[in-house]
Amino acid sequence: MRPLLIAGNWKMHFGRAEGLALVDALLAEAASVPAERELLVLPPFTLLAPLAERLRGTRLRLGAQDLHWEAKGAYTGGVSGPMLRDAGCDYVLVGHSERRLHFGDRGEALARKLRAALNSGLRPIYCLGESLAEREEGRTGQVLAGQFDEGLAGLEAAAMRGVTLAYEPVWAIGTGRTATPETAQQAHAGLRARLAAAFGETIARETRILYGGSVKAENAAALLQGPDLDGALVGGASLSAEAFLGIARAPRGAA
Ligand code: 13P
Repeated sequence: MRPLLIAGNWKMHFGRAEGLALVDALLAEAASVPAERELLVLPPFTLLAPLAERLRGTRLRLGAQDLHWEAKGAYTGGVSGPMLRDAGCDYVLVGHSERRLHFGDRGEALARKLRAALNSGLRPIYCLGESLAEREEGRTGQVLAGQFDEGLAGLEAAAMRGVTLAYEPVWAIGTGRTATPETAQQAHAGLRARLAAAFGETIARETRILYGGSVKAENAAALLQGPDLDGALVGGASLSAEAFLGIARAPRGAA
């Protein structure tokens, strides 16, 4: 009922030749991924235009890793939602933990970015997740609730239809330390309950919640057993066609 979304966040990797080679390798094998699953790549800004060209008419969707909250203006270095649409994007990440940590993205800026994405016709993937210290202090639920409200409070239910969530525990990103399927499912179920309370049962049922943090072909099937896991946001393993396709093909409900 919620088609899986398998998304590759390339972060700050690849020039033109490597990026094109990777999407060509993905497209060559894309037919081996169940047809109802959605495949998405999120390359750096500089690769969006050439990749959009290559992906036109294929099942591979394109997205960006961040956007500015204004549509245009004197914001040196900024890239806006309308620019991303123009470059061929369908999706954009908002609030990735690396943006929160290294670029100071937080609070009102995230809420504005999320709305800017929706206003531009993009589908934001809103990322949230606790740090190791927060988990060890038993504050995971409280942190996730705070981040949920920070980005999404006040959004109309109709607008929420365009939003995907991504639970990415910071301690699992790039560390090789994946959340257990039980830990991930527990966090996802909590987020879905919060969706229900804030936006109603229908939105809660329809909204996809991705898991991210050291997802690999070897652990994808076990993670995707969780009834509230609706796909993966993959970092390191998305830089290899074989590894990414291994995740995209992972059987659901088989550990
Ligand atoms: P890794 O898969 O490298 O842990 O990164 C996860 C991530 O941050 C995806 O957005």
